[in-house]
Formats: sequence, C-alpha cells, structure tokens
Amino acid sequence: MTRPIYIAPSILSADFARLGDEVRAADEAGADFIHVDVMDGHFVPNLTIGPDVVRALRPHTQKSLDVHLMVQKPDMLIPLFVAAGADIITVHAESGPHLDRSLQLIHSLGKKAGATICPATHESALEYVMDTVDLILLMTVNPGFGGQKFIASQLRKIEAVRRMIEKTGRAIYLQVDGGINPTTAREVIAAGADVLVAGSAVFTGNAADYAANIQKLRS
Ligand code: DX5
Ligand code: ZN
Repeated sequence: MTRPIYIAPSILSADFARLGDEVRAADEAGADFIHVDVMDGHFVPNLTIGPDVVRALRPHTQKSLDVHLMVQKPDMLIPLFVAAGADIITVHAESGPHLDRSLQLIHSLGKKAGATICPATHESALEYVMDTVDLILLMTVNPGFGGQKFIASQLRKIEAVRRMIEKTGRAIYLQVDGGINPTTAREVIAAGADVLVAGSAVFTGNAADYAANIQKLRS
C-alpha cells in the first residue's frame, strides 16, 4: 500500500544563529512540518529550545510546528508552547505516569496531540491512548542529540504500531525520529512510517541543497 510521506526537518541540526532563515529555507525546500526538539537537561542530557524561540519562529512559516517535548514535566510547558504557536505537541510516555492527562490537556487547548516512546519502551505503553492520539512518534535513537545511528530493532516496533493504528480505523500519523537518511528512510517507510523527522540529513550543505536533501528522503 502506498501512503503519502511527510518530511519534518528537525531544526536541532540547523544553524541556531540564523534560525528564522533556516526555517524559511526548510519550508521553501518542501518540508511538510517543522520539527522542534525541546530538551530540559533532565529527561535527556541536553538543553535546547523554549517557548520564546517557537514564538520567534512562528512568523517564518505557515507549516505546522511540530513540538517534541523531551522534558520531565510536560504539563507545565504545554500551555506555553500552545501560546507560542505550536500546532502539534508530542509527549513522552516515559515523562511520568500521566500521559493521558497530557494528551487531554493538549486537546483542550485545541491542538493535535502526539505520544512518543523511547527505543527500549514497548509499544504496549501506547495501547490505551490509541483512541485519542493524532500522532505516534517512535524514537529510532535515544533522544537527546542529533546525528546518532538508527537503531534497527525499531523496525519491528514500527510494523507493530502500524498494525495497532490500522486496528483503530483512525487517521493517526506514524512518525519516526533519529538516524533517518535515504537508506533508513526506505526501511521505515516499508515498515509503515509516514512522517519522517530528519535533522542532519536535511540541514547539510547550504540552503540551496535542502530541497534535494528532502527529495532523497521521499524517494
Ligand atoms: C533526538 C531528536 C531528533 C534529532 C534527529 O533527540 O528528537 O529530532 O534531532 O536528528 P538526526 O536526524 O540527525 O538523527
Ligand atoms: Zn525529535
């Protein structure tokens, strides 16, 4: 079965000194979503982007801003990212015991809600949110840094989650994140993914190269 494939460049690999230009360049190069990696220095050993940066980027694109929260206390930050202009907010099941509460909070603020799990977490952690989520994100590296190697064991999980999505009969994006390049893109698409996050594979070379970089992931 062929399904549409969406590319979500992760600005973690963009030039932070020129972030507005980089977002515009990714948009013009054919990005479907702009992926924003939010790290708090606790849930993951790195510190990145806060709501004020999302607010500053909002005028630079009309594409969906897809905010991936790698934080310990997502509920504290969700309203701030919504106010800043996020369109999709994705929360880790491993952040705490209240994934469903976080998803309800995102929906109550009128935005699309995503749930995500790390490579070592079983897909059953998602079972009881399948009837409400808009997006499932499967991490294909351990979250925290760009430029890591794709973890091949996740291909089985992508296949399993694709089956779970089909069982619901609902339209749910199946996003993957980490180590996506033209080779692994082909593998994850074959396994059932339809939204590919890519940082280093998109933001390589200069802005004139981004369209070709994105095209290589699609084909
Ligand atoms: C990892 C982030 C990813 C990362 C992907 O914690 O969630 O979005 O930036 O980077 P690449 O595509 O370089 O593996
Ligand atoms: Zn991410």
